[in-house]
Amino acid sequence: MNNEHTTRALKQALADRFGEEVSIPPGLEGLEQLLAIANQSTHRAWAERAVDADLIRLLAACALSAPTKSYLQQADIVDLRDSTVRSAVESLVPSMPWMKTAPALLVFCGNGRRFRRIFERRDQAFTNEHLDGFFNPTVDATLVLMNFIRAASAIGMVCCPISVLRDRAEALATILEMPDHVFPVAGLCVGWPLQERSISPRLPLAATLHQNRFDEDHTDALIDRFDSRYKAVQSSRRPAGSPIAQTWSDERAKQYASSQRADWGRFVRRQKFDLS
Ligand SMILES: Cc1cc2nc3c(=O)[nH]c(=O)nc-3n(C[C@H](O)[C@H](O)[C@H](O)COP(=O)(O)O)c2cc1C
Repeated sequence: MNNEHTTRALKQALADRFGEEVSIPPGLEGLEQLLAIANQSTHRAWAERAVDADLIRLLAACALSAPTKSYLQQADIVDLRDSTVRSAVESLVPSMPWMKTAPALLVFCGNGRRFRRIFERRDQAFTNEHLDGFFNPTVDATLVLMNFIRAASAIGMVCCPISVLRDRAEALATILEMPDHVFPVAGLCVGWPLQERSISPRLPLAATLHQNRFDEDHTDALIDRFDSRYKAVQSSRRPAGSPIAQTWSDERAKQYASSQRADWGRFVRRQKFDLS
């Protein structure tokens, strides 16, 4: 794609995403990469093409090149290759069949263990036993997860994060033999795309990009605006005769109508994190 085409495609992708024009300053290099980022989509259907351990290793190496808080390197990836382990994990989430059919399934973990081990090996007191000790590995693991998705997408692969696995955190930790101070952040299905996916809309930038101060003066109106656009986009994508599309707010309120993962704090404490 030449630069003019890429610029046009990027503008279109961002217009589809945000429902507004995002201007692109002239003379920028690397717009193809921005286009790939702007076009990012979660996939839940996979082409019949295996993903072998060496390819995961390559993508994991790229993913683990992400920045890491205080150079602490508190993220790990578990590649589920053994069929017994994999089916045990799959059986924890029967509601998401795309996990079972995915060519590869990974679990991204926060790891506060290695950091503590440095102190143990020196007989030195660990002086950072508080919430930050849980938060930092969470952020590291999330960056590695996103970097993995970007690396996979760079070679035409697609992914689906699976946080629903955390509904069964204790069982997952047992299957994967996670020691104290290690916890799952999300699963990740990885494969090759079966079909293209349309861009899923995001809130207008006025709601999520702030200048100088945190501004929520117009939040309700911006959500209302997004709800209308979301419903129109969903309606236009549904086959004739489908149930009427709901707004984004209605869907989210329905999805979170009952309490979810209320035992997560208990699990994290069981892994010996002090959250005070
Ligand atoms: C941390 C995280 C956890 C997610 N967990 C799930 C999940 O358990 N199951 C699922 O099908 N999708 C999951 N997703 C995918 C989101 O549903 C998806 O990103 C969202 O609907 C927006 O769609 P898009 O990624 O195609 O733009 C997760 C995404 C993230 C970032």
